[in-house]
Amino acid sequence: MLLKAQEIDKSFGITHALDHVTIEIGKGDVMGLIGENGSGKSTFSSIISGIQKADSGTIVWKGQEFRPQSMVEAQVRGISIVVQEMGTVPGISVAQNIFLGNEKDFRKGLNISRKTMTRKAAELLARVGMEWVDPEEPIDRLSFEDRKLVEIARALYGSPDLFIFDETTTALSQKGRDVVYKIVEEYRQENKAVLFISHDLDELIHVSTKVTVLRDGKMVAVLGKSEMSPEKIKELMVGRKITEEYYRTDYKAEYGDEVVLRAKHLTAGSVLEDFSMELHKGEILGIGGLTDCGMHDLGKALFGLIKPLTGSVTVLPQNRQVKNAYFAIRNKIGYVPKNRDQEALDMNASIRDNITLPSLGLLTRWHMISKKKEKQFAADAIKSLRIKCSSDMQLCKSLSGGNKQKVSVAKWLGNRSKIYIFDCPTRGIDVIVKAALYQLMVQLKAQGKSIVMISEELTELIGMCDRIMILKDGKLSGTFERSKELTDHMLIQKMV
Ligand SMILES: Nc1ncnc2c1ncn2[C@@H]1O[C@H](COP(=O)(O)OP(=O)(O)OP(=O)(O)O)[C@@H](O)[C@H]1O
Ligand SMILES: [Mg+2]
Repeated sequence: MLLKAQEIDKSFGITHALDHVTIEIGKGDVMGLIGENGSGKSTFSSIISGIQKADSGTIVWKGQEFRPQSMVEAQVRGISIVVQEMGTVPGISVAQNIFLGNEKDFRKGLNISRKTMTRKAAELLARVGMEWVDPEEPIDRLSFEDRKLVEIARALYGSPDLFIFDETTTALSQKGRDVVYKIVEEYRQENKAVLFISHDLDELIHVSTKVTVLRDGKMVAVLGKSEMSPEKIKELMVGRKITEEYYRTDYKAEYGDEVVLRAKHLTAGSVLEDFSMELHKGEILGIGGLTDCGMHDLGKALFGLIKPLTGSVTVLPQNRQVKNAYFAIRNKIGYVPKNRDQEALDMNASIRDNITLPSLGLLTRWHMISKKKEKQFAADAIKSLRIKCSSDMQLCKSLSGGNKQKVSVAKWLGNRSKIYIFDCPTRGIDVIVKAALYQLMVQLKAQGKSIVMISEELTELIGMCDRIMILKDGKLSGTFERSKELTDHMLIQKMV
């Protein structure tokens, strides 16, 4: 046995995040950890990795009592974590990020040897497939995904015996995911251990040798390899059988002739070039590709957040150009960005304020905001997406990752938008709410609303969209109509 976490208990005010949880991880285990959003996965992993302290309970690590005072201490003793949220520090270099807190290891007399640090950083970067990055370059120049890989490089430093991935793969595209899978496999073979958190059940079942299920902060089951199935895991997660449909059940592309949003010869952001598209009334239009193919910039351009260099985005029937986000909101366009921590929410504001912000116009009475309407509005959103919170006044920064994502989606649902630009809308959302969100998209479609769904999950695109446009290096490389015959493979061929 490597780790014995016994009776771990943790509360945040009235929220009982962990209720006497006991988890044991042995050598060679890849322990999957699953549970609904807000069930306590990140809280548990942050306690064993020194980020926060338990209220009670004991941790025994390699036979000795273990009370890490910080993430650095846990890492020195052999437990490393890649946290769920963005874990790099802006304004410093890649190498400084990798060795944050461990600079003393590079001390030479009174100074820190930058040369040794750079060399060691280059070695670690190579292990995560980033040999092309200069360790001295500022971290801010790297993309969201590449910064996540830098965090993996940091966690690898010191060769920990227990490696924790807290929903790391959802932040990565296939190449990055393969880096994670390779590390997991190495760890298993070297008889070390991994704690692996992911809402992707197929992935979880594939990589884990055991799976622990949490429900409402309680440990409800540990499954061995032969007992794992998506149905069983879902049932244990919520405590009842799940029969709801997942994706759309029809296989026909069906939408109106009327065009509601048009991009014409759009060149914007760093790679998107000469891209044209028409979104129809009642259509779910998928946009797919590798993460740097320009699709995320496309989302921003459609919502007026970045100005086209050439070309245009117009809303119809008025045929007016989307000049900025204010115009977009006024014209009933909603937008869920991929980067929820930096772009989607005001983390220091409450759930209620975040959700009502784009809808305040609907919530006024005699030119004043009606508190009653505002409260009801937030309550409806919290209920429809099962946002787990202590009250609607809870600050967004203290929500679990998936619940933040739900707030980011919820704020557009109530404001009667007609066009939704969803960039990776289901990132970090548990399978149960994911199904609910897909059903909601079907309802929006039936009401004649239109959705652009930008996604890195091919199964989601195939499962939900009427049409799928694939981008490659900023240019359109293929368009697919909804059909039963469509496969991942056909899309991938156009992506690479
Ligand atoms: N600092 C905090 N203040 C208040 N509540 C908190 C804080 N941190 C976590 N919580 C609450 O504790 C509960 C468990 O959160 P945790 O982040 O562990 O969930 P999770 O299982 O990781 O969920 P997800 O799948 O969404 O990442 C949630 O209800 C969350 O709102
Ligand atoms: Mg979490």
